[in-house]
Amino acid sequence: MSSFSDQAEWLSSTASDVAALQCAHYFRIKFRLKAPVAKAVLRYSALGVVEPWLNGMRVHDDFFTPGWSDYRKRAYICTYEVTERLQEGENCLGVVLADGWAGAAFGPKGHAVAFAPQTLFVAELAVTYLDGSTESIASGKDWTWRKGAIRKNSLYNGESYDARKAIKDWTSEASAERGWVAVEVVDAPEIELNDKKCEPVRITERLDPVSLKRTKSKWIADFGQNLVGVMRIQLRNTKPGQKIVLKFAEMLKADGTLYVENLRAAEATDVYYCIGGERESYMPRFTFHGFRYAQIVGYDPLEAEDLTACVLHNDLKKTGHFDCSDPLLNQLQSCIVWGQRGNFLEAPTDCPQRDERLGWSGDVQVFINTACFNYDCADFYRQWMDAMRDGQRVDGAFPDTAPDILNWHGNAGWGDAGVIVPYTVWQHYGRLDIIEENWSAMEDYIAFLANQSLGYIQPDTRYGDWLAVDATRPEWSPTPKDLIGTAYFAMTTKQMAAMAEATGKPERASYYLDLFDLIKAAFQYRFITKTGHVLGDTQTSYLLALGFDLVPEPLFEAAAGNLIDCIEDRDWHLSTGFLGTPLLNPVLTKVGRCDVAYRLLKQETYPSWLYPIKNGATTMWERWNSWTQEGGFGPVEMNSFNHYAYGAIGEWIYQRICGIAPHPDYPGYKRAVLAPLPGGGMSHGGGSLDTNAGTFVSKWKVEGSRFYFDFTIPNAAEAVLRLPALEWKQMRLNGKPVPEEVKNETTSRFGKCEMLLTAGDYHIEIETYLLETAQV
Ligand code: BGC
Repeated sequence: MSSFSDQAEWLSSTASDVAALQCAHYFRIKFRLKAPVAKAVLRYSALGVVEPWLNGMRVHDDFFTPGWSDYRKRAYICTYEVTERLQEGENCLGVVLADGWAGAAFGPKGHAVAFAPQTLFVAELAVTYLDGSTESIASGKDWTWRKGAIRKNSLYNGESYDARKAIKDWTSEASAERGWVAVEVVDAPEIELNDKKCEPVRITERLDPVSLKRTKSKWIADFGQNLVGVMRIQLRNTKPGQKIVLKFAEMLKADGTLYVENLRAAEATDVYYCIGGERESYMPRFTFHGFRYAQIVGYDPLEAEDLTACVLHNDLKKTGHFDCSDPLLNQLQSCIVWGQRGNFLEAPTDCPQRDERLGWSGDVQVFINTACFNYDCADFYRQWMDAMRDGQRVDGAFPDTAPDILNWHGNAGWGDAGVIVPYTVWQHYGRLDIIEENWSAMEDYIAFLANQSLGYIQPDTRYGDWLAVDATRPEWSPTPKDLIGTAYFAMTTKQMAAMAEATGKPERASYYLDLFDLIKAAFQYRFITKTGHVLGDTQTSYLLALGFDLVPEPLFEAAAGNLIDCIEDRDWHLSTGFLGTPLLNPVLTKVGRCDVAYRLLKQETYPSWLYPIKNGATTMWERWNSWTQEGGFGPVEMNSFNHYAYGAIGEWIYQRICGIAPHPDYPGYKRAVLAPLPGGGMSHGGGSLDTNAGTFVSKWKVEGSRFYFDFTIPNAAEAVLRLPALEWKQMRLNGKPVPEEVKNETTSRFGKCEMLLTAGDYHIEIETYLLETAQV
């Protein structure tokens, strides 16, 4: 049911001055139920965020419901069963309405947009009595509203809470009427209302400080982990009106004070005015901060146990687990997971701390494969695709941010997320719904690309290989932008062909395959020389060409060699930005140079994945040089310490060190690829992955020249195994020679021995495994 009855009206407060508009607004209705209740369901939607209360208690502990959408086009509906909360006789339903992403303008300074300048909500409580009769308590003109304790609420700036102004028992039937005034009934917004698609934001973990230090009048707490959420503080013996100021930061400066310059205009400050007395506590509910450190001013003496960091994100199911013998790689994996948690807050965002926090589509598409290993993200991305469609321009271009704050569209590697996200969700979860929901939008997008191309070559667009090591400005990487655009045009077109096939559209599939061939031919003609050089001669140029299957077969080895030269020229360091980085290790593996893949992954000097880890990172950093030993903090105008884009290496870690990957022809892990690659000096690796076909488990170790592999293929699945052995006779499966019937033809460039196995627990032993340096 994705609408409300005619009885339910949209309500707003009558606040008009700035101070009142900055407050959260409390709404309520007292009502009488004539008999015992069999079932009661509360449904609501809002432009803004809502916290419902019933008879003196919160209805749920979720944050920021009903969530973030492009309010000009759509809002979500939340549904909660509340049967136990009601009683025969007098009851009171309340709603706290706060800004969230509505109300005040949202977005970076100079680009902020008020999608829904006036916050609104609609609510309906559907009651079924024991005798089967029904009644509806719906939002309408008989409701009243007033201000309460929350005097300011802003996602970027923080919350201001005056406990002296809290409304006592505000949803109890007995609470006073004083101060409550008539609501404004507004016209229902002409937008789509849909049931919320994914789990809401919840507190998923609580952390204690690892240290608490005092400098002058300020306390600094360190939670030991860069995280996203809110902090709870417990207070004793306070004075009425005592002002406590809580400020948050990801990093400290050398002098031990908060580094807040990278937050730009975001104040990230909560202010609490005490009610006064022996004990009270405060945790904001309508803001969130990206922080590892908190500064507390105005309260003494503070103890570490008074503080708790509450981690917030959409409460998705954790599906992937990975572990290996290298502690630095385990910490990298932890940074990747924390980066995902911090940026999965109602939209997949670029960063969670500064005045930005937007659903940047380029970041989304580079990270999605990794994300789908860590958590069950299918519905989260389905919900985000609503915002992509809502922001799609009439010519078919997908937006660069969704919900679309900036009105920037169709940039290579960014807009392409509109195709890549449905494709990847289908690959990981086997779900066709996301393809069907977005099919015509995706067709429009490819038509847009086709229309703007000249001889199948895309024009230069905005970002290029964003933040590449040599970029003199973030968008000025040395990889030609028309090459990037054309490579993505080809790749997304091929994905369209596969999706058309999967959803029973054979003519569209062959249309897209033909188009792919034309783009590929144009790409080769324009960008690849007869010596296998790719224009730009950058790591990213080669990675795109090789990774997206755009190099003519006879030039494959030459192009691969040129890629290796580009890496060797930098003394085995990467030079890639957002678009090149995710391709590095997968392409190096594809061309048979896993040795170089491991060499890059294990590189500890700048620029590399492990450089930040060696320097104390607990999340992924936005830039390779977000902080360096020589230069300190990187360019302050854009320097997040919680940006998941470079965490895209996680995909390769799962596929090759954990050894579990989806098979492109059998989406949803009905058939998986188990292809662990021992290397990098590691003695063991492995992990597990919960999929829609069951749980895969993989565990390998090496001892001397021997390789041991234990793995489980779940009941609803089978798996292709690609193993680091040259000859079958070196290998034993469950202690016996490998039976003929499971041996498979292989196209793999690494590891000739391939098998197809059905569900079960297996043990493999290889006498002399192939070193990662071997090229076969
Ligand atoms: C964001 C990036 C994003 C980029 C594109 C930045 O401000 O943080 O991650 O993709 O803008 O312009």
